[in-house]
Amino acid sequence: MNRRTMLATAAAIGIGFVTLATAASADGLPPLEKKDRYKVGFSQMESNNPWRIAETKSFHDTAEKCGWDLIATDAAGSAAKQVADVDSMIAQGIDVLFLPPREEKPLIPAVMKAKAAGIPTFLVDRSVDPNVARPGEHFVAFLGSDFIDQGRRVAEWTLENFKGEKGIIVELEGTTGSSPANDRRKGFDDVMAQHDNMTIVASQSGDFARDLGRQVMETLLQAHPDVNIVYAHNDEMAIGAIQALELAGRKPGEDVLIVSIDGTRDALQAIIDGKMGVTVESSPFFGPLACEVMQRYANGETIEPWVQVKDRIFTSANAAENLAGAY
Ligand code: AHR
Repeated sequence: MNRRTMLATAAAIGIGFVTLATAASADGLPPLEKKDRYKVGFSQMESNNPWRIAETKSFHDTAEKCGWDLIATDAAGSAAKQVADVDSMIAQGIDVLFLPPREEKPLIPAVMKAKAAGIPTFLVDRSVDPNVARPGEHFVAFLGSDFIDQGRRVAEWTLENFKGEKGIIVELEGTTGSSPANDRRKGFDDVMAQHDNMTIVASQSGDFARDLGRQVMETLLQAHPDVNIVYAHNDEMAIGAIQALELAGRKPGEDVLIVSIDGTRDALQAIIDGKMGVTVESSPFFGPLACEVMQRYANGETIEPWVQVKDRIFTSANAAENLAGAY
């Protein structure tokens, strides 16, 4: 039994965890051997929106080109199941783990167990609580967007394009405790706090889901019928909000400005239809980047703690030309 198999077995059955964890981390992060084929784990958190489906597809599309025997799981929206899925991958002897952690804190045990089992882990698209688990120490690197900047860019676009005098803003937040929800709120709210004519009258989670976004918007509309800006942390909730507003007889794009993040096909279509103002891109196509970074790591390179993805911005100026490539 080699060291990695021994560590993986011990981590899976929960014996000698502390001793073995020390052994695995004595020389820093677990190394990655250079090989033609790798057993790769990709632990998806849920598949209830086009973004997640596009991300999973990107890993599947990359697998053959990158020499991956891919084990992909779907935690169906449960952080506990996502931890269990990672446990199972460790027991199956994966060489490397790509993990989009659903929430910042509950997924920390998965990161720690993978390290203890000698498996290099890359966080993709979302991160964990940096006070507890850090790149270069507990996992190799975070591959993803700057969510604070995304929120900031939405706020700046809104300030430049809102036609009214006083902005009455409803904010639809993403999954509570997730890094994009925390950071997109911070980026947007900090900018708006500097403008006296902008008030965020309500901020509530729609869990990054279209139908919940619609339901939350319906409820918030009762309390705030004078809303004239909706900031959604993702496009799915923005589309849900448009549905709620239309049902209530409002005119999204005319009497309510809708602003959001992601760049999905439905959002680009809503921009073309004049119902939505802007969506700042958050790309789900992580497969090729994951392949490149993993190969660099296997070659012995030190990976930067944050492999940052650059995001475009979609408005009426460019939505139509980007529709064909959207997901
Ligand atoms: O972590 C990225 C976010 O997660 C996307 O914006 C959202 O649509 C997805 O569920």
